[in-house]
Amino acid sequence: MNNLLKGKKGIIFGALDENSIAWKVAQRAHEQGATFVLTNAPIAMRMGAISQLAEQTGSHIIPADATSEADLQALFEGAMEKMGGKLDFVLHSIGMSVNVRKGRHYTDLNYDWLTKGWDVSAVSFHKVLQTSWKLEAMNEWASILGLSYIAAQRTFPDYSDMADNKAYLESVARSFGYHYGVKNKVRVNTISQSPTRTTAGSGVKGFDGFIDYAEKMSPLGNATAEDCADYCISLFSDLTRKVTMQNLYHDGGFSNIGISDAVMQRFQEEGSK
Ligand SMILES: NC(=O)c1ccc[n+]([C@@H]2O[C@H](COP(=O)([O-])OP(=O)(O)OC[C@H]3O[C@@H](n4cnc5c(N)ncnc54)[C@H](O)[C@@H]3O)[C@@H](O)[C@H]2O)c1
Repeated sequence: MNNLLKGKKGIIFGALDENSIAWKVAQRAHEQGATFVLTNAPIAMRMGAISQLAEQTGSHIIPADATSEADLQALFEGAMEKMGGKLDFVLHSIGMSVNVRKGRHYTDLNYDWLTKGWDVSAVSFHKVLQTSWKLEAMNEWASILGLSYIAAQRTFPDYSDMADNKAYLESVARSFGYHYGVKNKVRVNTISQSPTRTTAGSGVKGFDGFIDYAEKMSPLGNATAEDCADYCISLFSDLTRKVTMQNLYHDGGFSNIGISDAVMQRFQEEGSK
């Protein structure tokens, strides 16, 4: 299973620290022969940590705030220049809600914070796609991925306005995926990932409870960040060329489960107390 990405060039957004899903994707992409640029928001970038990943994977770092069109343009131009050509994959692994971070209830949202979180978590995906489109930065059969969560389809109360951001993100993948498919045969998808212990994940209230719940509900157990990285590699590879405009569940089966024996048993134990 080596060299699935041999000769491929890309950009990986969102490797904050070694728990980040993007961090694991960068490690796997490197193992599979890809070259890429690492990027993160200038303020979020902990130079120490990302430099270490860049060294490990032989990659360049170009800071960019994913809400800034100017930053994104400089990023794509810089990446093509540094790697000597157009790109084959992009990972958008970015999410942040100010309302969630500050513990604002969904029935009492601050709309300035909502707008900020929507821009960072959802509109930035459109900005990434549009920037790459205008610069003609992607090779034919390239693959662009965003990361989502099942709160886009089902209600998880503490996920608050991030649920709406994820619904928007998934819609952008479908809408842009159409145009990119027709024009350049470029794939655009989102992966709907299990709850995962990362900085963004752990910021959601009650996270420990619902990661355990999802683990017990999923026949295969939760998908880890490493598992997610493997799935991303398969979607960047040439083995999935006709997959586009999809939201792909990567969750150990959680999305199709009504109730599992393990969860039922917990309730029965509690009931008998
Ligand atoms: N952790 C989970 O439970 C989980 C589950 C499903 C989906 N996801 C999604 O996976 C993606 C990656 O998150 P993670 O869990 O690895 O957490 P993380 O905190 O490690 O990554 C989030 C990244 O977003 C970056 N970011 C924030 N604002 C930015 C901006 N303006 N410009 C550029 N980058 C910015 C952060 O610096 C960070 O690197 C997110 O889209 C998240 O919603 C996470």
